[in-house]
Amino acid sequence: MLETQLETLAGTVRARILAAQTPDELEAVRVEALGRKGTIADISKGMGKLAPEEKARIGKLLNTTKTGLESALAERQQEFAAAALRARLDAEWLDVTLPAAGTRPGSLHPLTQIQQELEDLFTSMGVAVLDGPEVESEYNNFDALNIPADHPARDMQDTFWLSAGQCLRTHTSPVQVRGMARLGPPLLMIAPGRVFRNEEVDPSHEHTFYQLEGMMVDRDVSIAHMLFFMKTLLKHIFRRDVTVRLRPGYFPFVEPGFELDIQCLICNGEGCPVCKQSGWVELLPCGLVHPNVLRMGGIDPEQWGGFAFGLGLTRLVMMRYGIDDIRYLQSGDLRFLRQF
Ligand code: PHE
Repeated sequence: MLETQLETLAGTVRARILAAQTPDELEAVRVEALGRKGTIADISKGMGKLAPEEKARIGKLLNTTKTGLESALAERQQEFAAAALRARLDAEWLDVTLPAAGTRPGSLHPLTQIQQELEDLFTSMGVAVLDGPEVESEYNNFDALNIPADHPARDMQDTFWLSAGQCLRTHTSPVQVRGMARLGPPLLMIAPGRVFRNEEVDPSHEHTFYQLEGMMVDRDVSIAHMLFFMKTLLKHIFRRDVTVRLRPGYFPFVEPGFELDIQCLICNGEGCPVCKQSGWVELLPCGLVHPNVLRMGGIDPEQWGGFAFGLGLTRLVMMRYGIDDIRYLQSGDLRFLRQF
């Protein structure tokens, strides 16, 4: 009679232990069944009335029921504890291999990148990479390039004049003069660098920009050599076919002189602020070195000939990355710079 009662009780409590969804629910079951005033305790109290042999038997049964329920409870408590730990581990998960927040590796300026790329290309072709000063003599910047003081071509390039016959170089062509003096003929050189013009600044003009000068002096140098050189360069940079056109162009230090234009890669020739709505961008002024320039460089024009070009590195960067305003390049604006 009491046995059946105990067994039923044990079954119900066990079921409720398993059904408990939270530690609080479980605790409520424990208090109700196994607490000091719980059901089991009630039954124990009533045992006083039993006959001694009954007492022993029921007492034993009561004890096993109690320990059985206690271990079921402990097991369920452990499940809750394990689930709580799992939830906490999930919530507080941390990837210690991630880079620390706030550090952002820097990168080279797009102009530096393109300059280094071209230096690598030309070095691999056996071309010397030369350097010249940004503060240059009037002689190297103009006179030695067949632009004497009274020459109207001086007005082609608005110049920042300094004292004592010095200026900020208006182009990288003075490095031609330095190259001829340093290397002598035959020579094959490039000279990347920063140049300055006293210009009104707008989306396609800056007072400070970059050029890459190229010069070859050898026997029987022709326009074909020059074109090969420039095409190699363009193919390397754009990694795709670009439409080019060659126009006559005037520069006192070359004869004949040309302008090599590329179809604007920003608007694909339809017209935009960068190409001043023309669809074409002047990228590569070039020509055969003027005999006067060779002569002033100590090279006999009867024996030697040459070609030269002055690549607009800044324009090239703009074409390559689709930058529609030259002023971004010198702005120091991190939102711009972080894209490279
Ligand atoms: N130095 C010229 C300029 O900046 C470009 C140029 C270089 C033209 C070499 C012909 C040959 O305008």
